Amino acid sequence: MGQFLEALRDRSNGTAEFRRASDGLARLLCDSTLPKLGAVNDPAGVSCHVMLVPILRAGLALLPSFTQVLADSPVAMLGMARDATTAEAQAYYRKLPATLPTKALVLDPMLATGGSMALAVGLLLERQYSPENIFYTGVLAAPEGWQRLSSLIPEGNMTVAAVDAGLDERKFIVPGLGDYGDRYWGT
Ligand code: PRP
Repeated sequence: MGQFLEALRDRSNGTAEFRRASDGLARLLCDSTLPKLGAVNDPAGVSCHVMLVPILRAGLALLPSFTQVLADSPVAMLGMARDATTAEAQAYYRKLPATLPTKALVLDPMLATGGSMALAVGLLLERQYSPENIFYTGVLAAPEGWQRLSSLIPEGNMTVAAVDAGLDERKFIVPGLGDYGDRYWGT
């Protein structure tokens, strides 16, 4: 994962290099996540009763690597954005499948304060998911966000490529890699 992370952290890399590194890393993160979900690999493919939950926008970057393997998993979309001044996450969109699988895997590359994930977990708890059945996979976490999320779901359900040093005054992960959504989507 180190080479991909290095490419993501390199601010001189443009959209194409960033996407290539992100897609490569997402495939490895998928490999690390599947055993935690109890996914079964048989000749028909990988099967697991799990709903994928990308957090818009940045979480969409991880999604294709997971749908490629978990080909029949339904996808719930949650739109969340942090306020630029307070860094508080606000939910702006949600669309869940009518029938909910037993497990939910939330995809969001960045776990900074943990506010976005706390909102996502809250929504899943409202839908009767137990914390044991809620999983999280991302790229970078700050210790603050990791701690906050691990007070909500089992730490063994959480997967990231790296835990960084902390947060800056804007509540961005440091050293981090900038704004994942902006860099992946070229905005
Ligand atoms: C970023 C990131 C996470 C969130 C993490 O999204 O992709 O969703 O912030 O921060 P938190 O742990 O402090 O809540 P952002 O709000 O910038 O939206 P975007 O994905 O549309 O860029």
